[in-house]
Amino acid sequence: MAAPAVLLTGGAGYIGSHTAVALADAGYCPVLLDNFCNADRRVVGRLHELLGSDGFAWHDGDAREARTLCALLRRYRIAAVIHFAALKAVGESVAQPLRYFENNGNCLVALLQALAAEGGGSPAPLVYSSSATVYGDPDRVPIPESAPLRPTNPYAWTKVLGEQLVLAQRAAQTAWRAVILRYFNPVGAHPSGRIGEDPQGIPNNLMPFVQQVAVGRRAHLTVFGSDWPTPDGTGVRDYLHVMDLAEGHVRAVDYLRAGGVSDIVNLGTGRGHSVLQLLGAFGSVCGRELAYRIGPRRAGDIAVCYADPSRARSVLGWEARRDLRQMCEDAWRWQRSNPNGYSDA
Ligand code: NAD
Ligand code: WQD
Repeated sequence: MAAPAVLLTGGAGYIGSHTAVALADAGYCPVLLDNFCNADRRVVGRLHELLGSDGFAWHDGDAREARTLCALLRRYRIAAVIHFAALKAVGESVAQPLRYFENNGNCLVALLQALAAEGGGSPAPLVYSSSATVYGDPDRVPIPESAPLRPTNPYAWTKVLGEQLVLAQRAAQTAWRAVILRYFNPVGAHPSGRIGEDPQGIPNNLMPFVQQVAVGRRAHLTVFGSDWPTPDGTGVRDYLHVMDLAEGHVRAVDYLRAGGVSDIVNLGTGRGHSVLQLLGAFGSVCGRELAYRIGPRRAGDIAVCYADPSRARSVLGWEARRDLRQMCEDAWRWQRSNPNGYSDA
């Protein structure tokens, strides 16, 4: 029997490419749709190496086009969809809010239209990529899914509105089911070192910046504030190995295909690490101390953020298995064998 096909919009991106590998490992056939606005085409060659040419399919196309989505749903008899396609840089969303609402909003509207049009009585179930950013500055940690939503930037608003759209469509189409996953801070890479995170330009996020310091592309890290109310004064986050996150998506697809009801689930480890702890862990993995300077706080940052991951355990049977050291080891293997990311492919 042919492997059930799962459509991954934005599947050539950082989380999508790792999820494609986890899905293939679990016996699915990932079908990737990406317009490569924030991904390098060479990731496809790397996926060929890891999965073989029969192990996945890919299409260069825009997820804002319902026609394209309808054609893929039909052609591959898609059993479930994971919707990753979105723009994700917080600072850029503040400068270009229309671009963010247009792209992130229209991708999801087109997908929901395509699912409704092609699904007959039972449209394919959906896993929607949301983010811990929907919680803004939380009243308390660990953060449960019931915490209030307080988006503080246009990107975060696109995620809140996306969640609302999914919930509204679920209410309108009672036979359809969706799981909303709120990820915390994904980091690391596939253990092969063949795929990993490859941001364009100067990295916005901590781990890719640290990786580039370690490999000599940047002289030092600037730590954004050492006066936060945390044990060492630097910001605390819930860093999560991207392969744990990828396996969380496989669990969500399994759950929906087994008839699971719609839900909203945090994916995080439930543990917080500070900027200096992450920097120290990476330094011990790459065998030298990494240079840093203390700078001012970054606008919009918060002190502490980590998940209450108990719902992921009870609903999906998922929990993160990899620790901070493994996140750093795998990130370092990827970066040291591809110092310039996919440009080295
Ligand atoms: P990414 O930028 O690496 O991947 C997103 C992919 O979507 C890219 O390959 C991009 O080219 C593609 N894309 C964007 N618009 C498209 C369009 N109109 N048509 C087709 N493809 C399009 O980002 P990622 O880190 O892999 O994130 C995946 C999802 O997870 C996003 O929805 C993001 O908002 C969400 N998320 C990411 C993080 C994180 O820290 N990385 C945290 C929480 C949530
Ligand atoms: C982590 C910590 C920084 C860079 C972002 C998005 C969020 C989600 C995940 C998508 C903080 C500190 C960082 C640097 C530093 N993405 N830092 N120097 O801000 O928790 O979350 O990515 O949904 O929406 O906002 O992650 O990696 O940027 O920062 O000191 O050069 O590292 O202040 O304490 P963040 P991050």
